[in-house]
Amino acid sequence: MAVTVLIGVQWGDEGKGKIIDVLTEKSDVIVRFQGGNNAGHTVEIGDSKYVLHLIPSGILREGRQCIIGNGVVVNPTGLVNEILELEAQGVEVRDRLRISSRAHLVFVYHQLADAAREAKLGGSMIGTTKRGIGPTYADKAHRVGIRGGDLANKTRLEARFRAQAEAYNKQFEAQGLELMDIDAEWEKLSGAADILGPMVDDTVFSVNAAIKDGKSVLFEGAQGVHLDTDYGTYPYVTSSNTTTGGACTGGGIAPKHVSEVVGVVKAYTTRVGEGPFPTELHGEEGEALRQAGNEFGATTGRPRRCGWFDAIACRYATMVCGVDTLAITKVDVLDNLPELKICTSYRINGVETTQFPADLDDLNAVEPVYETMPGWQCDTSKARSWEDLPEKAQLYLKRLASLIDARIGIVSTGPNREQTFFVN
Ligand code: GDP
Ligand code: IMO
Ligand code: MG
Repeated sequence: MAVTVLIGVQWGDEGKGKIIDVLTEKSDVIVRFQGGNNAGHTVEIGDSKYVLHLIPSGILREGRQCIIGNGVVVNPTGLVNEILELEAQGVEVRDRLRISSRAHLVFVYHQLADAAREAKLGGSMIGTTKRGIGPTYADKAHRVGIRGGDLANKTRLEARFRAQAEAYNKQFEAQGLELMDIDAEWEKLSGAADILGPMVDDTVFSVNAAIKDGKSVLFEGAQGVHLDTDYGTYPYVTSSNTTTGGACTGGGIAPKHVSEVVGVVKAYTTRVGEGPFPTELHGEEGEALRQAGNEFGATTGRPRRCGWFDAIACRYATMVCGVDTLAITKVDVLDNLPELKICTSYRINGVETTQFPADLDDLNAVEPVYETMPGWQCDTSKARSWEDLPEKAQLYLKRLASLIDARIGIVSTGPNREQTFFVN
């Protein structure tokens, strides 16, 4: 029996989907515990490519039970589209997916409010995915949210949806914004509820029963530590706890059950959206990484900002999450570089530190201090074991792991399921 939590160590898009897919070979139940369809988790198996937004990546392994936990925010029409797309690709979903009756629902008014707020912020916008994530979690905290359980009770769902939509329309009117056509929106929602209603369950019980029965349960994180509301680069964060604690509150389990924490980390750094990024590379160097790594958002298609590996940001993240094992991805993207830089400390207003700062002004003032390592300049995409890696790549990866205080468990050298190996 193993209860594994998988977390993104950086600013998201570390390759979590791919690593989840590899780990699900030995998992029975896969649980998403936070975030919503702001996430985009890519899995490539053979010639097929899948992008999951709400459904746990474990759905791609036959027979695995998948759960959307109470900490997730679920857009019902978005989820139905995702189910239909997977079914069109030959993946059976409905019998294997359960949605927590406690998960909060994302509606069109949350998306409109998200977009309106970003427009109002202008130059200081967060750069959200405009999927309505922040406003939905705000409604949850304000105690006016509508939950998964309502999908199975359409009379209640309609009454609650119409009341909330009317309240939002009043706000939109006061702000001079376009109003929703509530009847038309209800029609769409009603159709989605017909499909999703039978999948709703109080998943706290099924997750705990699986653990009690000795099954292997894998918790699939979305986003990354530096997008966590508490631990990330606030306010340039998402609106949920992306860290290990989030797996407990958002998945419905006690911390004592967690047996392993896997941290997924790219061999360099990317970020999409606004906010501090100490090791960002501007100009040609950043563009070269973006092209080599095909760094364009899986959800919004936006170009990702790219930079060198930041050991200060990652060590803080592995500490906060209690990461035992690292899965290091996208090693192949560095294949052609003659030398690689690793940020080993920050200089802030002339003072050197190895502590990741909490304050936005400090973060914006960071000058990264780098050490340089030689590149390996050969193809790693066909490596299937640690021994297959060139020595310079081994040294680079070992250096990353020692700087961030975790051991390497998995290495990925390409997007495909096959391009992965375990390290003892
Ligand atoms: P996630 O959000 O953490 O699941 O990551 P995304 O799917 O948003 O972005 C990761 C991207 O990198 C996807 O396009 C993956 O197919 C791809 N990818 C994952 N691992 C590797 C790897 O080792 N090498 C390369 N070249 N691509 C990878
Ligand atoms: P996965 O799971 C990368 C970023 C957005 C923005 C900030 C807030 O694929 O790694 P939100 O829409 O959540 O209110 O936006 O968070 N963001 C992500 N960046 N990967 C993600 O998910 C992200 N989900 C949100 O770009 O900066
Ligand atoms: Mg992603």
